[in-house]
Amino acid sequence: MKNKKIHDSVLELVGNTPMVRLNKICADVESEILVKLEYLNPSGSLKDRIALEMIEKAEQSGRIKPGDTIIESSTGNTGFALSTIGRLKGYNVTIYETMPGKAGGEKERMMKNVGAEVRLMEPEVIDDLRERSVAGSEVELPGRQLCLEDEKTDPHVWWARQFSNEHNVNSHHVTAREILDQTDGHVDVFVQSIGTGGSLLGIAEVLKKECPHVRVIGIQPASSKELWHAGMDFPVTEIKGGIVSKLLKSEAVDELVQITNAEAREMTHRLWTEEGLYCGVSSGANVHFAMREARRADKKLRIVTLLNDHMDRYLTEERYVT
Ligand SMILES: Cc1ncc(COP(=O)(O)O)c(C=O)c1O
Repeated sequence: MKNKKIHDSVLELVGNTPMVRLNKICADVESEILVKLEYLNPSGSLKDRIALEMIEKAEQSGRIKPGDTIIESSTGNTGFALSTIGRLKGYNVTIYETMPGKAGGEKERMMKNVGAEVRLMEPEVIDDLRERSVAGSEVELPGRQLCLEDEKTDPHVWWARQFSNEHNVNSHHVTAREILDQTDGHVDVFVQSIGTGGSLLGIAEVLKKECPHVRVIGIQPASSKELWHAGMDFPVTEIKGGIVSKLLKSEAVDELVQITNAEAREMTHRLWTEEGLYCGVSSGANVHFAMREARRADKKLRIVTLLNDHMDRYLTEERYVT
């Protein structure tokens, strides 16, 4: 759709993101790192893909119709994507904003600017996360509990459930097809940060089928409370578990690693200044690990990763949050 001369809506611009080879950062390694620019999606992150898919599937099933209210708990990217796409399609959107620190205020303004209602979490709920880099799956838990309660009390409220909605994962089967098309099916390593786990699992499922030798690596912030490893048991309740529990058991994911805030930030700055790639801090975490793999390799590898969101949401605070 992106090759149409005139588009009928920005919704046609979701997905089909470009891929760029890193030049300066990879100058002294034999392997190549290819980055997919998810921050060029209309609301500035990969979450436009899941927002569009989850909303359209809920529409098709008759669960929602314009005038209803879409709710979600989010550190900002899913909240802003649902706000953008939900408002364009005629829904009310309410987001429990769970981003700790100053950046929470920035995200709140972005969502309000496009007509969403934003409910801030009590500071004490997310207070102990202020100094740490955090995984979305832990910081968003209190918000998810409130979403469930809201949905139970009003039939016109629909909780998108990004942490367990199968259409989150399915939307990334398309991302994987784009990667295969852009690389002519040649990928040796795929690396991605984990929030809900939807992008890692969805892409891994397809890549492993189409090029079985690919190694798939998931990343989480090193200072997260809950450090995951492949195969671990993960509690599953209505508000917890979801996609991450599947991902931890999935044979499509080979390894889980942790990256510190400092490592992620350092590489993010290099992406800005050396490559002109204006991405956020989880993208820096991805490329930091991709470079570690490139240096360790004893042969030329093609390593693919995503630049998940735009630098514009890290102007007041830079931290590795998924
Ligand atoms: C900045 C950022 N990077 C990476 C991710 C990981 O995405 P996913 O939810 O598909 O695991 C997210 C979302 O959680 C995010 O907001």
